[in-house]
Amino acid sequence: MNSNFVYDIPTKVYFGENHLSHLGEELKKYGKRVLMVYGGGSIKKIGLYDKVIEELKNSGLEVFECSGIEPNPRHTSCNKGAEICKKEEIDVLLAVGGGSVIDATKVISAGAFYDGDCWDIVTRKAPITKCLPIVTILTLSATGSEMDAGGVITNLETNDKIGIGHPLMLPKVSFLDPTNTYSVNVYQTACGCADILSHIMEIYFNMNQDLYMLDTVMEGLMKTVIKYGPIALEEPTNYEARANLMWASSWAINGFIRGGKRQAWSCHPIEHQLSAYYDITHGLGLAILTPRWMEYTLDDTTVSKFYQFGCNVFDLDKSLEPMVVAKKSIELLSDYLFNQLGLKSKLSDLGIDDSKFEIMAKKASYGNVLPGFKPLNQEDIINIYKMCL
Ligand code: NZQ
Ligand code: ZN
Repeated sequence: MNSNFVYDIPTKVYFGENHLSHLGEELKKYGKRVLMVYGGGSIKKIGLYDKVIEELKNSGLEVFECSGIEPNPRHTSCNKGAEICKKEEIDVLLAVGGGSVIDATKVISAGAFYDGDCWDIVTRKAPITKCLPIVTILTLSATGSEMDAGGVITNLETNDKIGIGHPLMLPKVSFLDPTNTYSVNVYQTACGCADILSHIMEIYFNMNQDLYMLDTVMEGLMKTVIKYGPIALEEPTNYEARANLMWASSWAINGFIRGGKRQAWSCHPIEHQLSAYYDITHGLGLAILTPRWMEYTLDDTTVSKFYQFGCNVFDLDKSLEPMVVAKKSIELLSDYLFNQLGLKSKLSDLGIDDSKFEIMAKKASYGNVLPGFKPLNQEDIINIYKMCL
């Protein structure tokens, strides 16, 4: 049993509707000059942009803007934001959007104190010494970036997608209003569900004994996503569904369920190569990979965890043989991802062939072996990619 850990999740969360009146007072704690970071315009379409600007102006704050953050955010956009911070002597950053916007904002917050390319920060060439404070308004339930200290940035010139984390990048305050996600389309909602599930599974599928309580919380979180994902697809303005997905997104990755487990993740590094080379949506890549990774890692040494998963998440009959339950649970997960959420199930459906599998496997395993639930060498990773074709 390894249940020694530090619990430290200091992001203040305003959850629910009508909290925006607190935005100004929260930002003012850090200064007057605010850089608002956002994406390609969805916040304007849903009227959130106008509400935020009004609140900021009414609070007497000076507002600067950095728009156009891409899905799979580029280091070049971070450079743009960091430049504005330096030129305008920004005090605090306000990210309004999904994971991409929040992730880019995190790197901008460090880039504001670095005279060079933000890519150096992502690649750890430039150590993070100082960051501007970050406040977020989340508009898409998926990554948990609103309550974690990490960001993932893409460099399309080198086909690299790399995660970077630092406690100073953790948002100080996050506004989580489920109604801001009503406009998220069917595809992005489904990809978000796949991402939340994967964050939980990366920790849940672990053979080290830890707290029973945390496994039970994870099973509850997975059941929540499985229950409410299809409801949100059918009824985009169902508050209960959107609220459950939103809070599950934050708690899947804010560190709480990790407890004392220190195992490396598997599907995420394998997926990040797909996004880096083909610019696909992160959650879709995870959906395609996860059931294949499960099939590949299921054997006599891991079957007990799949059995637990099948019985407690999909309510399968505990009296069945563990291997039968394990296989059935993978089938049910595939049915959820590809039929209920309607996500594409094959890489070939996305126009991806095997031509880059070797280099992608090398990068995913950092040129060595990917540790994790079951250690995977480059050949294993290539095999998993092939199973997804
Ligand atoms: O750019 P805009 O116009 O805002 O449109 C976005 C974008 O096109 C749109 N969208 C967001 N909120 C919306 C909306 N459309 C309508 N209504 C709304 N309310 O959705 C599209 C996708 O947005 P994006 O932010 O890219 O999605 P997501 O939140 O899934 O973020 C994905 C990124 O986060 C990284 C992923 O790798 C990927 O780059 N991750 C970050 C993590 C973290 N920080 O801890 C962990 C994750 O595992 C993940 O790797
Ligand atoms: Zn993810």
